[in-house]
Amino acid sequence: MADKISVELCMGSSCFARGNSEILQAIEAYINEKDLADRVELVGHLCLGKCKFGPNLRIDGTDYSGLTPEEAITHIAKALEK
Ligand code: FES
Repeated sequence: MADKISVELCMGSSCFARGNSEILQAIEAYINEKDLADRVELVGHLCLGKCKFGPNLRIDGTDYSGLTPEEAITHIAKALEK
């Protein structure tokens, strides 16, 4: 099980408009609900240069595009289980 994972969320305006504002809210709620503040390092990122595929996020160095908030949470949960 991973001690700690990093989650980088693109906070560029395109990704934010395409859904990262909802994904951010979902991740923050998930962290609070599961008491994961020590295990998930959540950081905002400037534009990752893949705007048209957004919303983009990066979990432990792997990039994901076009996820729904639910899918983002699923990937985070999987990364924590690794
Ligand atoms: S705004 Fe996210 S990749 Fe450009």
